[in-house]
Amino acid sequence: MADVIYLAEGPRVALRYISMRDFEELSGLHQESAQLLARWMPGGPLVAYEDFERYMTRFDGPVHEGFLICRRDTGAIVGRANVNNIIRGTHQSAMIGYSAYASTLGRGYMTEGLGLLVGHAFGEMGLHRLEANIQPDNAASLRLIKRVGFQREGYSPNFQFIDGAWRDHERWALTVEMTTA
Ligand SMILES: CC(C)(COP(=O)(O)OP(=O)(O)OC[C@H]1O[C@@H](n2cnc3c(N)ncnc32)[C@H](O)[C@@H]1OP(=O)(O)O)[C@@H](O)C(=O)NCCC(=O)NCCS
Repeated sequence: MADVIYLAEGPRVALRYISMRDFEELSGLHQESAQLLARWMPGGPLVAYEDFERYMTRFDGPVHEGFLICRRDTGAIVGRANVNNIIRGTHQSAMIGYSAYASTLGRGYMTEGLGLLVGHAFGEMGLHRLEANIQPDNAASLRLIKRVGFQREGYSPNFQFIDGAWRDHERWALTVEMTTA
């Protein structure tokens, strides 16, 4: 943990960039969480090295940023959170994606971690609006995004291809103004 640079720290978890050095730990987490993730997350589980390597190339340019949520006491990874499809100019917006892992689910780590992510996105990254798209039957994710302060904006039929089908999603968003109101 000595050389870890955190971007933001809360009482129990901290936010840092994902890196190739995280492969082994993440591969184990993705293996244990395959069932949890399959129905809700696009792309396959990141278990094989080649898949992880391919996944990491998405963060080469300025369009996507990949983060991990880690326990502060042990450094263990408890969640993944991406800021995707970053649009600059007059939008300064992005879409977030996130997942917990089976062994540390339901402890509040993701609520705290997404709070840190929002702070980093609206602070260091200079973004103004974050969007989260969530399937209507993903109750845990809907509870989470509400707790973090996002508001429901609308409904997008056949929004994303996940687990073998085009899935409807609810569109939730948060702007800087909503965090300062
Ligand atoms: C969506 C997802 C990230 C939510 O994870 P989570 O573990 O429920 O989120 P948190 O870590 O914030 O835990 C919150 C829960 O812990 C409970 N909790 C227990 N101890 C707690 C504590 N000390 N502090 C805060 N909350 C605590 C909360 O009450 C809450 O329970 P609730 O959802 O029943 O109200 C997770 O279900 C997941 O990864 N799903 C699969 C992937 C996915 O759906 N991704 C999102 C796609 S849109």
